[in-house]
Amino acid sequence: MKVQSTTTQQDDHFLISNYDYKSTNIEKNGDKYIAKPQITNFKFKTDTRIPKLGVMLVGWGGNNGTTLTGGILANKFNITWNSKRGTHQPNFYGSLTQSSVIKIGTCNTEEVFVPFKDVLPMVNPCDIVFGGWDISSMNLADAMNRAQVVEYDLQQKLRPYLEKLVPLPSIYYPDFIAANQGDRADNVIPGNNKLEHLNIIRKNIADFKQQNNLDKVILLWTANTERFCVEDPNIHGTAEKLLKSIESSHPEISASTIFACAACLEGCSFINGSPQNTIVPGVIELAEKAGVFVAGDDFKTGQTKFKTCLVEYLVGAGIKPKAIISYNHLGNNDGKNLSQESCFKSKERSKKTCVDDILESNKVLYPTEEELNIDHTIVIKYCPETGDSKKAMDEYIAEIFLGGRQTFAVYNVCEDSLLAAPLIMDLLLLCELFERIQFQKDASEYQRFDTVLSWLSYLMKAPKSESGITTINSLSRQRAMLENLVKVCAGLTIDDNLRLEVRYG
Ligand code: NAI
Repeated sequence: MKVQSTTTQQDDHFLISNYDYKSTNIEKNGDKYIAKPQITNFKFKTDTRIPKLGVMLVGWGGNNGTTLTGGILANKFNITWNSKRGTHQPNFYGSLTQSSVIKIGTCNTEEVFVPFKDVLPMVNPCDIVFGGWDISSMNLADAMNRAQVVEYDLQQKLRPYLEKLVPLPSIYYPDFIAANQGDRADNVIPGNNKLEHLNIIRKNIADFKQQNNLDKVILLWTANTERFCVEDPNIHGTAEKLLKSIESSHPEISASTIFACAACLEGCSFINGSPQNTIVPGVIELAEKAGVFVAGDDFKTGQTKFKTCLVEYLVGAGIKPKAIISYNHLGNNDGKNLSQESCFKSKERSKKTCVDDILESNKVLYPTEEELNIDHTIVIKYCPETGDSKKAMDEYIAEIFLGGRQTFAVYNVCEDSLLAAPLIMDLLLLCELFERIQFQKDASEYQRFDTVLSWLSYLMKAPKSESGITTINSLSRQRAMLENLVKVCAGLTIDDNLRLEVRYG
């Protein structure tokens, strides 16, 4: 695709697009709103050179880590496998960047769509070099077998590639994850000195980058859900205080926060795929100083994705959700870990907040704070027999016209890691892409996006935003935001769906 326009310029290294952003400034005058449309000029500059990307996963030997690594290798080497349903080809279904499309315009009256990944130059997932840590020493072939996610025949075909991959020893603070994880913790960096731990992880990152001749590395936490750390401004509030607290091995410094700090100090962006409060203010300051991104929290895969879609539909239709009751049962190691109350609480929090802004936006349905307080209940039970095929059962009760009720009972089988792996890939590819984009507002200096990469909210259950920026949970708004950003950077027109060119030529 090539954009021919007076508002875009391209040379060997950069694609620059000029964009007049139209927004509306609202002033309140008593009980009236005064709307004042305005235009702000932005320039987006995308470095089109694709780097050699390395990714280090924390929790590499888990269900997500093994499924992602094996799935990418299957695609890279075009490995086919058989099941009772026949012969299967590898694909990237479930990946926004690889398997979804974007409308780029109209050819006569036909709408033209291209893969998301083709709008701006992106890393090919098959070219990513993977590495990482796990508290379990199992090589990735055995770990994939333990995970019980991937079909047996594919496991066998991937074995020669995966058995060579062994996670690095990791830091293990048993107080932060469930006690039942202790039996797999045979690959642990010894000692209790958190500063030493930080330095070892930093060295691991530097070695990985150098040994694989990488241009950049991104770290992603896909290890067990930790309990929330007890956040305290004196411990976590600034970069300096955080590093001091690590130096004194403060008990409220979690393993995930050590990894986040190590990433920032080594100049790598960090993504938190679990719900806990890893990205404390001190981490954000470290990231800011290093010029890297942080993003979180908690992958938005099955049930929550559906929830933010359905609630948006109801509220958008003027129907009033009054109760959401969500049951989950799952039998994988994630479920085992979540069976401990402290870890479940982290998950409950991120699952519960996911519709708040959708409800809050509609003051017709929810005129008071009290009415916003709908019954939203989350239950998670560990049931080993269900394995990675998590069952999500939700009941949505909504109020309709004249006091009537509309109830949805939804049964959703989320093959957890098969949904999560392509999403993790998207997080990595988009984070890498955003590291190559800069913008200029009204002819000011070029700058990079905010340190907390809320552009990735489509992929996060409890999207973290820069302070002062409201969180958007609506799935369609989150997707539109991403799609529009890449279109704007490429110099394409954003689609307002009026389709006037089709209707009136
Ligand atoms: P898993 O339990 O199979 O894998 C986690 C891995 O982390 C294990 O291999 C464990 O040994 C390792 N680990 C634990 N503490 C560690 C540490 N300190 N350092 C290094 N490794 C450590 O879990 P799964 O299914 O892969 O999920 C991973 C995370 O992603 C969980 O926190 C889960 O809540 C989160 N998540 C998963 C979703 C999914 O659909 N699979 C969706 C949303 C979030």
